[in-house]
Amino acid sequence: MIQIRPYQETDWPFIWEFLHATFRAGDTYAFSPLSTESDIHKAWVELPTATFVACDSDGQIVGTYYLKPNQPGLGAHVCNCGYIVAPQAQGKGIATLMCEHSQAQAINMGFRAMQFNLVVSTNERAVRLWQKLGFSIVGTLPGAFLHAQLSYVDAFVMYKQLVT
Ligand SMILES: CC(C)(COP(=O)(O)OP(=O)(O)OC[C@H]1O[C@@H](n2cnc3c(N)ncnc32)[C@H](O)[C@@H]1OP(=O)(O)O)[C@@H](O)C(=O)NCCC(=O)NCCS
Repeated sequence: MIQIRPYQETDWPFIWEFLHATFRAGDTYAFSPLSTESDIHKAWVELPTATFVACDSDGQIVGTYYLKPNQPGLGAHVCNCGYIVAPQAQGKGIATLMCEHSQAQAINMGFRAMQFNLVVSTNERAVRLWQKLGFSIVGTLPGAFLHAQLSYVDAFVMYKQLVT
């Protein structure tokens, strides 16, 4: 049974480990693979409006996501989220639960749509998952992501209206 709850500062050492490994891999997020712990804390915890963690039945943190406005002012009704699942917990539906949770949170917070700005085209698992959860590829950014192994690869802008 997975429980999703608001992040608290005592969670940091547990999420830091897999956030760091994900960014260092340089194949899914634009954050520099050389990002420091404080860079990543800022990006994942301090700048977003909210950060959540997913815990398994033993209370172990197996995933996290953030939620924030995608643009200021007149674009602030569209939110942006980022999701990471711990490597050993992937493929069990945890990102699905977090994405569904984030959409409900976003609606409660007054957001009307959700946008992912840079979904790496080679991240097939993520692309397929977001499509399954109702997001459309609304644009392809040619060569917009510098992949650590593959060099310049396309990235997708993905979008879902939450309120019509
Ligand atoms: C992408 C990510 C968030 C998915 O998390 P997850 O908890 O494994 O996702 P889920 O288990 O909810 O769903 C995975 C889906 O991908 C499918 N999948 C599994 N392996 C796959 C593969 N190699 N290729 C394509 N699809 C795959 C599964 O079939 C599943 O779909 P299903 O529900 O039809 O079975 C996770 O892999 C991750 O943290 N990756 C690193 C960070 C990242 O890429 N974040 C997203 C950036 S846009």
